[in-house]
Amino acid sequence: MVNRIKTGIYGVDQLIEGGLIENSAITTVGASGTGKTTFAIQFVMKGIEQGEQALFVTLEESPEQIMKEAEMMGWDMKKYHEESLFFIHLSGQNFREMIEEQLPKLVQARKDYDIKTRVAIDPLTPVIWSTEDRLEQRELIEKLFRPLKELGTVMATVEEHSKPGEIIGSDVLLPIYLSDGVFHLEYYPVGGAFNRTFKIVKMRGTNHGEGLYPYVFVRGAGVVVRSTTVEIKKEKKESYDEAFDEALKTARHIDLPETVIEKIERMKKQWNYDYSPNEILEIMLSSYKEE
Ligand SMILES: Nc1ncnc2c1ncn2[C@@H]1O[C@H](COP(=O)(O)OP(=O)(O)OP(=O)(O)O)[C@@H](O)[C@H]1O
Ligand SMILES: [Mg+2]
Repeated sequence: MVNRIKTGIYGVDQLIEGGLIENSAITTVGASGTGKTTFAIQFVMKGIEQGEQALFVTLEESPEQIMKEAEMMGWDMKKYHEESLFFIHLSGQNFREMIEEQLPKLVQARKDYDIKTRVAIDPLTPVIWSTEDRLEQRELIEKLFRPLKELGTVMATVEEHSKPGEIIGSDVLLPIYLSDGVFHLEYYPVGGAFNRTFKIVKMRGTNHGEGLYPYVFVRGAGVVVRSTTVEIKKEKKESYDEAFDEALKTARHIDLPETVIEKIERMKKQWNYDYSPNEILEIMLSSYKEE
């Protein structure tokens, strides 16, 4: 039996037999603004909320920027910073030294430390771009993934620069090959609530959903993937509060942790979308029910 861990991204776990295989490396691929950083944050925060530890490797943004973005999404990363959440900020050209020398030492140092860890690398792209030699690119990714997978379950993000239909470059293909699983985020700027889609490109050892699933950003909760086909009823805005109250009642009834209740309360306060929160709440609650 393999151990599976929840991604923390609402709607996703039910598509991958309940979660990611522990100590695997997943890549989330998407163009700018599709939500890669949000995925990475949500993934590590799920672990943190369960008492795990997390290592967040940032390459472009500073840890402060990441924590600020997380705050806007409703995640309090600062509270855990340097307690159970640790950042490594790789900037400039120090990748190689970090990957080849410091990283193995760090992993070795944590070996006896029996606590579950999640690792995010956001984004992996600059590491790949640090050399034009494909073989070297491949080696670098492997040198990065191998020790980190020993440490815990890894989510890396990769920037996609090509347009739909174009042949993708080695900076995207290599991490796809070298990962155990790949999520693909796409954005169709056509307006409306469900113009973003989520797809599972691969997931080793897992019978996974093969659809193209819409996802939305929800302030206070993060990304929610519509993995179920629920009919959306037209509702009046006034009934939105009722939907939240109903969800809160259910959450209390099934004894969900206080963090979940707080999350729903935050969502209720900030909900300014022109569609009902009913379905989102349903997906969220059902993802906790399975735990
Ligand atoms: N609460 C929200 N409601 C609607 N859209 C949101 C919300 N929060 C974030 N977004 C959208 O998500 C985008 C940012 O997501 P994120 O930073 O995770 O993307 P990214 O793929 O990491 O982008 P980049 O490649 O630029 O780093 C914003 O540009 C915005 O369009
Ligand atoms: Mg980002």
